[in-house]
Amino acid sequence: MICRVKTPAKINLSLDIVGKRDDGYHLLETVMQSIAIYDTISVKILDKSTDFDGAYQIKITADNPTFPCDMRNTCYKAAMKFALIYEEKLSHRINKKENVNNLLKDKQITIRIDKKIPQSAGLAGGSADAAAVIIALNNLLDNPFSYEDCLTIGVQIGADVPFCLTGGTILCKGIGEVLEPIDAFNTMHVVLVKPNFGLSTPWVFSKIDIKNLGARPHSSSVIAAVIENDIEKLSIHTANVLETVSIKERPVLQQIKESLNQHGAKMSMMSGSGPTVFGIFESKEAAGNAVINLRKNKDYGRFYIASTTTINHGPQVIMMQK
Ligand code: C5P
Repeated sequence: MICRVKTPAKINLSLDIVGKRDDGYHLLETVMQSIAIYDTISVKILDKSTDFDGAYQIKITADNPTFPCDMRNTCYKAAMKFALIYEEKLSHRINKKENVNNLLKDKQITIRIDKKIPQSAGLAGGSADAAAVIIALNNLLDNPFSYEDCLTIGVQIGADVPFCLTGGTILCKGIGEVLEPIDAFNTMHVVLVKPNFGLSTPWVFSKIDIKNLGARPHSSSVIAAVIENDIEKLSIHTANVLETVSIKERPVLQQIKESLNQHGAKMSMMSGSGPTVFGIFESKEAAGNAVINLRKNKDYGRFYIASTTTINHGPQVIMMQK
């Protein structure tokens, strides 16, 4: 049995912090937007190998040999959480000694990750991969979980996973689990610039002073701008409160924002906790020209620079064989 899922990255069109929970998580108001850069996740349910004597055998491989494929991987966490909740759901039938097929503790789950989304980038690559694993396992097991159940499993893996299970343009609240879809943006042309370093999300959040956030977005105006497809209005009302921390740590991020604007971006901002900075352009040609010009900048020599577009969907099953 194999299920292959194409799962998109996201950018944050705005990001505000409106409170903090007792467990340290921050309460957000953020407009998240899917973009056309995808990882491909292939999930198989196979017989457990005879040399494996534990329960829940989960094996991960990736196209990039340096990518961590152990318990730290969000795909591993998603598969394990899914398996445990699935088996708890079936426990009354197992207790009655009913013959239940496909018990995951007796199986091997193999996950192959083909990465195109830059890592530690603020583009939700890990969350997108976790969402794909949940969708693939649910499909392979004939949908034991509703969409809402999948969101509940997802938020236990990471705050961005509920959005990644859904995709499109969404106002996300809570820690990211309260989703209010927004009428889809027309296609927007986006240029991404990710420097050759990562930024740790927990570190960025740990440095934020919620009493002194600096420039904050005006969320209702951001949503209106998104609905009206008005980039100029968006640029006036949007902000990402995490920029202060990230730009202070890495001033090159401010430089990248300015470079994007000089090369024709109608607005530029950091995505999530960074370090990726994106610019929104009026046309495909303008975005393409900006990529060419930014790549000429020697200071950005080892940076990831790419153009893409906004999309109005989330993960898609592209292959299913039972
Ligand atoms: O949930 P996720 O793994 O994406 O979050 C990583 C870390 O970022 C959390 O452990 C927390 O420190 C921080 N975070 C936060 N508030 C959020 C999302 C993430 O403080 N809403």
